[in-house]
Amino acid sequence: MNIQFGVDYYPEHWPVQRWETDAKLMQAMGVQVVRMAEFSWFKMEPEEGKFNFAWLDQAIELLASYGIKSVLGTPTAAAPAWIIERNPEIQPTDPQGRRRHFGGRHHNCQSNEVYRAHVKRFVNAFAEHFAPNPNVIGWQVGNELGNSHNELCMCESCEKRFREWLEKKYGTIEELNRRWGTDFWSQGYQNFAQIQAPKLTVTGVNPSQMLDWKRFHSDLIVEYHQFQSKILRHYAPDKWITQNMMGFAETVDYFELGKDLEFSSHDQYPSMNMVREKPQYLGSEGAGQLDIIRGTKEQTFWIMEQQTTLNGWYEVSRRPRPGQIHLWAMQSVAHGADTIVFFRWRSCAFGTEQYWEGVIPHSGIPGRVYDEIKGFMHKNGTLMQEIKGLMPQSEAAIVFSYDQEYAIDIQPHHPDMKYVDHLMTYYRALYRQNIPVDLISDQSDFSRYKLLVAPLQYMMDPVLEEKYRTYVKNGGTLVLTMRTGVKDRDNICDSERPLPGGLADVVGLKVYDYDCLRQLQVKVAWDGKEYICDKWCDVITPDTAEAVACYASEYYKGTPAITVNVYGDGKAYYVGTEMTPDLADRFITEVGAELSLGETPDGVEITRRMGADKAYYFVLNHNGKEQMVNIPEGWQSYYEGQTMPMPAYGVYVYTEKVGK
Ligand code: GAL
Ligand code: ZN
Repeated sequence: MNIQFGVDYYPEHWPVQRWETDAKLMQAMGVQVVRMAEFSWFKMEPEEGKFNFAWLDQAIELLASYGIKSVLGTPTAAAPAWIIERNPEIQPTDPQGRRRHFGGRHHNCQSNEVYRAHVKRFVNAFAEHFAPNPNVIGWQVGNELGNSHNELCMCESCEKRFREWLEKKYGTIEELNRRWGTDFWSQGYQNFAQIQAPKLTVTGVNPSQMLDWKRFHSDLIVEYHQFQSKILRHYAPDKWITQNMMGFAETVDYFELGKDLEFSSHDQYPSMNMVREKPQYLGSEGAGQLDIIRGTKEQTFWIMEQQTTLNGWYEVSRRPRPGQIHLWAMQSVAHGADTIVFFRWRSCAFGTEQYWEGVIPHSGIPGRVYDEIKGFMHKNGTLMQEIKGLMPQSEAAIVFSYDQEYAIDIQPHHPDMKYVDHLMTYYRALYRQNIPVDLISDQSDFSRYKLLVAPLQYMMDPVLEEKYRTYVKNGGTLVLTMRTGVKDRDNICDSERPLPGGLADVVGLKVYDYDCLRQLQVKVAWDGKEYICDKWCDVITPDTAEAVACYASEYYKGTPAITVNVYGDGKAYYVGTEMTPDLADRFITEVGAELSLGETPDGVEITRRMGADKAYYFVLNHNGKEQMVNIPEGWQSYYEGQTMPMPAYGVYVYTEKVGK
């Protein structure tokens, strides 16, 4: 399968007479694949058991005659009104026990057996019908699984499944009572039947129950995916299955979901990320989202929806500037996308997403966006074939954990503390210094990395503890942070020993005291320079660790904020606070400078995909103005005309001989 470019297409939104014009325009642009059908259940089953696949057959056929293959989504992200009318109980329930209603999308509970029966009937017919079609190359189950279901569903069916999940996990109610700490507030249970979903209470939640709920919910979505993937694989063992993931979205553990996919996909909307970006880190949010997707299976991936132009539902983003669409798509490629599918083909004339605009505007007349994407496809096809499957071979990694995220979500300590934001303080500093970084699961092999950053290892267990210990002992450089080893995996505080628990000897210190920075800024002094730190301060008592930087205010003034400890053949840093950008930059210079691919002005990133004998470097200018970038000797221009200064939103590609 040799496919680099595509678009998301909704032929059902347009008259059949227009389809051929679309196909011609797509072919001229360079489109090789379309994704279709993921929201068209009613169109395909207007009445129970009366299937109408003819329109989709026709679209697939027509596109194929222009050399365009199809990926089909099962349309289960939007059940038709006739199903809801008959079975209103499949609508999801919020923590207050209120139903959410028809009229948007995702209006289904994922555990409900009645809904599952509808899905089963439909997906069987759908898979049986399209499996033999050679122009259908792969599937997507539903759409963005987990989207809109953040705190849903707490219906009776989900509660029942939750109880079963708990019974399987704990075996006996006594064990659950012990591990949930139900002696607190008289929360003890006599049997599993008494357990509810963590619905709205009068006050407070049990953190252990809540953590299990989030895990259960993630497992349910993974199982829901398997429920459909089994049917698809039964009819089409030769076709692949992917899922359009959403970067740092946390509802589903993507490492787990990834196990049921041939490869991961992602929906990349940079203008949504950009609103969070500081000028010196332009491009970093998008980069982080891409790197986590690459981490889900530790392999290259597809972009199933790449932003084309202005977007929004009710309010809209800025229109991407000339060159910016190309830049964003190349950023996806630079971070590991082998295929870019642009969302969507044509701006919709009706519905919620009228202003989530497409390659072709409402009028149907191709303009700047079409030309720019066409230019992108024509220019980069060969390059993308060459780099297919190539990874960056990062020497630095950040450990990403849904479990830790869930626990921090439940108790963020500081009202502004967020797991991903904290992790991004490290990511952005690495990004700014052009250090390629993998975002990996804590189940992953650490030994490949020279530098391993493990933020907020809040819940610790003996196995993970041993992994970190071995990593450092064998020569790795590990960064651990504030709130390490606070709890066990049941979300119960470690009451056997002081913080940071079992890894105290690896970092060479203890934390007997800490402070939450509410309406408070604390200074950190490092080599005579002062920085600000944020949200939290561990008060560190070193054993064998040495101070790298010290607090310069508050009652813990003069005590270490950041330390380093030599352990075995490696060393372990401990960062007792959340670093602000300047401090994080200084820190990454300290721990990772030699891993940098080169220095660039703010907002210009360099990233890499590594072949056996050739490295490919991508220099991306996220700024709206020209930039001078020093290109290392030995790098060859991949394209002609890569002269300095780089244009605004410019993308340059270089290669370098490596190995042998
Ligand atoms: C994605 C989704 C698409 C479309 C798009 C624009 O999250 O997968 O179906 O909704 O956003 O809102
Ligand atoms: Zn439910």
